[in-house]
Amino acid sequence: MPGPDKDTLKARPIRSFGRTGGRPLSPRQQRLVETGLEAFRIPAPEGAFDPRALFPGKDEVWLEIGFGGGEHLVHQAATNRQTGFIGCEPFIEGVAKALAGIEDNQLTNVRLWPDDARDLLAAMPQGSIARVFILFPDPWPKRRQQKRRLIQPAFLAALHRVLAPGAHVRFATDVASYADEALLAFLSHGGFDWTAQSADDWRRPPADHVTTRYESKKLGDCDPIWYDLART
Ligand SMILES: C[S@@+](CC[C@H](N)C(=O)[O-])C[C@H]1O[C@@H](n2cnc3c(N)ncnc32)[C@H](O)[C@@H]1O
Repeated sequence: MPGPDKDTLKARPIRSFGRTGGRPLSPRQQRLVETGLEAFRIPAPEGAFDPRALFPGKDEVWLEIGFGGGEHLVHQAATNRQTGFIGCEPFIEGVAKALAGIEDNQLTNVRLWPDDARDLLAAMPQGSIARVFILFPDPWPKRRQQKRRLIQPAFLAALHRVLAPGAHVRFATDVASYADEALLAFLSHGGFDWTAQSADDWRRPPADHVTTRYESKKLGDCDPIWYDLART
């Protein structure tokens, strides 16, 4: 089969995630992916798609990019049932774990995009998302890998476009160079205000946060740093 042409390859952003598969799924996870995912999966958009149409009667749509094992996504969805949630994550074991959380909590306000969030952002209309979580994105700590980091000018332009004015973005990392680079990128964009008033605002986790398994491993080189950015 012929591969993608040169223009397609050039247009494709550098991959920001690591493995998408790995250990074999447990029997429950296998069942959830094989028979449960279909009900929660967002179909590949053909042209523009409005995320608000996925959640009739809900107040707003919030987005989590790179939900990992889904602990935070499930917690937020269970505590904010009047909000529709879109979770993006290409790692299949993470998708299976999120499906287990959805089942255990009988959630009806979550839809999943088991793929690169950037493809979904491109299809969403302007101003359709009210809140975004990007928590401990892949750190790509080696200098030669840093171009794989999710927070890049092109990504922030795409994110800004889909956010409603006044929408908030929560970003967290425990890698000092990523914290510096991400803040600089958000502020250089010009369409995000950093809301911090005191050091506690970036040193302490927000009250509605739950610690995930990944975060508790403390794989980074500093304590977690939290940014809240408001879309202007
Ligand atoms: C280091 S993990 C952290 C997971 C989770 N946020 C947490 O705090 O436990 C980062 C996750 O982001 C996902 N990711 C990276 N790039 C992504 C993209 N472009 N779209 C969706 N997910 C992405 C990866 O697959 C990975 O599971």
